[in-house]
Amino acid sequence: MQMRKKIIAGNWKMNLSLSEGEKLADVIMAEMPATTAEVIIAPSFIHLANVSAKVRGTSIKIAAQNCSQHNAGAYTGEVSAEMIKSSGAYYVIIGHSERRVYFKESNELLLQKINKAIEYKLKVIYCIGENLAQREAGNHFDIVHEQLKAVLFNLSAQATVDTIIAYEPVWAIGTGKTATPEQAQEMHAYIRDTIKTHYNADVANAVRILYGGSCNEQNAASILTLPDVDGGLIGGASLKAESFISIIKAAN
Ligand code: PGA
Repeated sequence: MQMRKKIIAGNWKMNLSLSEGEKLADVIMAEMPATTAEVIIAPSFIHLANVSAKVRGTSIKIAAQNCSQHNAGAYTGEVSAEMIKSSGAYYVIIGHSERRVYFKESNELLLQKINKAIEYKLKVIYCIGENLAQREAGNHFDIVHEQLKAVLFNLSAQATVDTIIAYEPVWAIGTGKTATPEQAQEMHAYIRDTIKTHYNADVANAVRILYGGSCNEQNAASILTLPDVDGGLIGGASLKAESFISIIKAAN
């Protein structure tokens, strides 16, 4: 079985002014530990170019938090994959639960966005995960299965290998309530197995599956060392250099 390179991605969401974001990037760069993990930070659209310029020449890569499904044109307020790419970003997060819930983004729309991102050579971080009611009703595997089937399984095997999946149980995002290591490993193994059934073992063994949801410096090691967890998508704890750096160290 091949070794999958771990990824630690910080999702800054709608936080930080430009100077605060630049300062945080400076501290992360200055304190970056020796690591084999890929480190990604996702600032707001409006700060992508500045933060990309700051980290240029380092191992840190930049992600956008969303992108339009359209190429270009009269879509006031939208940001295209081409614009994101030209800002120096390398990745784009698609399907975050906050986009699914607050902006009513459907699986169908997310597939269009992913195809657009791929067309412009952005690597996709595709988020999936069940909410609390779905978990309590015991439907969590079905929900995740549908999010894979309706979106990811329309891609070629190679595009799926190139896509990073982030399993983020919605009930764990920003709540301080993390999935237990058992819950995380169980779902990550299920996702990998579902990918194996749809594609093959090579695709399943190569694809990286990140955990997200209240991951912090205290619980990172217990989650990031699980066999099917290939890193983390970090929200709140990525806004402080010290905790983000601790999480990067825990991924080693
Ligand atoms: P959180 O967010 O770490 O603040 O729970 C994770 C995410 O939404 O990606």
